[in-house]
Amino acid sequence: MSILFYSETDAPEPWRDVFSRELPHIPFRVWPEPGADQDVRYALVWKPKPGLLAGLPNLKAILSLGAGVDHLLHDPELPRNVPIARLLDAGFAQQMAEYSVYAVLHFQHRMQEFVAQQQRAEWRQHDPALTRDWTVGVMGLGVLGGAIARRIAALGFPVRGWSRSPKSLADIETFQGEDGLGDFLAGSRVVVNVLPLTPQTEGILNARNFARMRRGAFVVNIGRGAHMVEEHLLAALQSGQLGGAMLDVFRKEPLPPAHPFWSHPEIVVTPHVAGVTIASEAEAQVIENVRRLERGEPPLGLVDLNKGY
Ligand code: NDP
Ligand code: OXD
Repeated sequence: MSILFYSETDAPEPWRDVFSRELPHIPFRVWPEPGADQDVRYALVWKPKPGLLAGLPNLKAILSLGAGVDHLLHDPELPRNVPIARLLDAGFAQQMAEYSVYAVLHFQHRMQEFVAQQQRAEWRQHDPALTRDWTVGVMGLGVLGGAIARRIAALGFPVRGWSRSPKSLADIETFQGEDGLGDFLAGSRVVVNVLPLTPQTEGILNARNFARMRRGAFVVNIGRGAHMVEEHLLAALQSGQLGGAMLDVFRKEPLPPAHPFWSHPEIVVTPHVAGVTIASEAEAQVIENVRRLERGEPPLGLVDLNKGY
């Protein structure tokens, strides 16, 4: 029995350390170290190469090093009978809430304009937008969206959230399903997207939905790049339908150097850092999941393959 670690962006050392400390009887192998694939019982992975998991005949569970699982579900050879566990918060919620607060304040306080003015040595004041008038909409009200909505509401912003199924959260106005999307978007000055990527949500940040927002609204995308129809965003910024965007995730990552988003005056680009996997925050959950699986219990964060998240 062994655990196979695969990630091109997460350092394996902290994981090797925690496994050798907490579960020393399970050998920890970091891809591409040599080893017997038939011995691998658990795969701890971020964006594994397509086909890698299918080559592990005795795999008992796939443990995602992230909160999202689209990086796994896109593998056409994914062994769909093997349970997948994703990270539940595990340090993401605080990071994502802070990023979202920053984005909301950035747009409310017109920081993009002040940065541009500074470059021109231009001293010009703007009327402040009142917090109580600055409604923030959060798309996705799960583990992370719920935490983001609560954190922004705690600052005094009116907050609304959108999800698939009905939700009840103190001080948050909630909307659900296709029928609720139009009303949800219409009232939001800033829309923060933190949906999972599924066939239903791909391309949801599109011209039709931008047109349903109030003129000059702002979009923050910390879900996935494929939620955004990039040409529609550029057109909406050009027409003034949208006032700006803060983008952390992109259809192609790293964002290619010639991409128009890099130099767009109304777009802030960050390199997929709204929430990063911090081993010291996530390790307890991963170890607990291996222990649960060894006892024959379902893991925390079990993914529903029918829903796709
Ligand atoms: P959850 O599964 O806990 O929450 C997902 C939310 O999205 C739920 O409220 C769900 O509704 C809602 N949802 C899903 N599909 C639809 C739909 N078709 N229509 C309306 N609502 C829908 O996920 P997390 O909060 O843990 O994570 C969300 C995503 O954040 C991840 O999948 C990942 O893509 C992204 N992420 C990005 C990071 C970054 O650094 N940029 C870091 C970490 C995560 P319901 O409650 O009804 O099921
Ligand atoms: C995740 C991410 O889904 O880092 O965890 O994007």
